[in-house]
Amino acid sequence: METSDEWIQERTGIKERRYAHRTEETTTTMGVEAAKIAIERAGTSAQDIDFIVFATLSPDYYFPGCGVLVQRALKMKEIGALDVRNQCSGFIYAISVADQFIRSGMYKNILIIGSEKHSFGLDFSTRGRNVSVIFGDGAGAVVLQPTEENNKGILSTHLHSDGESAEILAMYNPGTHANHWLNQSLASFDDAEIGEMFMSHAMIDSAQNFPFMDGPSVFKKAVVKFPEVIMEALHVNGYTPKDISLLVPHQANLRIAQFVQQKLGLNDSQVYNNIQKYGNTTAASIPIALCEAWEEGRVKDNDLVCLAAFGSGFTWASALIKW
Ligand code: ACO
Repeated sequence: METSDEWIQERTGIKERRYAHRTEETTTTMGVEAAKIAIERAGTSAQDIDFIVFATLSPDYYFPGCGVLVQRALKMKEIGALDVRNQCSGFIYAISVADQFIRSGMYKNILIIGSEKHSFGLDFSTRGRNVSVIFGDGAGAVVLQPTEENNKGILSTHLHSDGESAEILAMYNPGTHANHWLNQSLASFDDAEIGEMFMSHAMIDSAQNFPFMDGPSVFKKAVVKFPEVIMEALHVNGYTPKDISLLVPHQANLRIAQFVQQKLGLNDSQVYNNIQKYGNTTAASIPIALCEAWEEGRVKDNDLVCLAAFGSGFTWASALIKW
């Protein structure tokens, strides 16, 4: 494609990104590798996991979801497996769901995975450059367990959506919409057949099977909703931005994270970014960043950790954690 390292770094901060092996790795197999590490670090075993929540926008199959493939790969008991399709905020939605199961006492060991193999579904021609340069592949996982300690663990989660702009950042096809929601300004339809079938040659010929993004519109909304949902989490728990030990934002774009940092008056040590190395890995970005931050000693006992995300839907979310 026609692009330059300079263009990409200036607008997104991304220097490198990882692509999974085209044939030997899938969204699920990457998730399984992350899960093995999380299960070991949680001091439990795959057989002791009670429930799986898998967040992704790039599943191995249209259906069934990746959760059951994890259950099979890790030879787990016949436990429940739920797939979450909330794109960039998928991991926080997944954590929120798991948190409710833990709080209600229904489950004690929940495996949460965020994984994406974006590289399999991007348009690497110049036509797709505004989207393709941003995204990378990766996986991260956590195991959520109950605690007896007061004011420890997940203090609260906050989930939001506004479907008004659902088509601004989306992959329309394959799908069952039959162009019901789409108009000419959002996507070009050279052939009526595109909107009449689940999958067609015309659809592929006109790149309708690749993600569409109106980048500037996403940017504008993200820089408003990120700070809003972080402040919501802090306010509900009686904290202010200066109390945050570490903010781990969804790694959408370094410029968005910097804008949020500035707006909240946070210093560099309070915000973790690693999009420079991986690009935007959507549902995987927060668990990858959280894991790296923890490995670097930047997430310690009793730290106040805030996770926040914004993305396609639009959906946005936050979680406040006393580590
Ligand atoms: N290389 C070179 N030129 C490019 C590239 C590229 N990869 N992509 C687009 N361009 C060109 C465009 O064609 C356009 O050229 P023109 O002016 O001749 O028409 C020009 O660069 C500007 O295009 P814009 O899309 O307006 O570029 P912008 O400055 O807005 O930057 C970007 C694009 C980086 C996507 C920006 O809008 C952005 O960061 N948006 C936020 C979206 C985001 O972060 N998405 C991540 C996924 S969603 C999520 O996780 C929240």
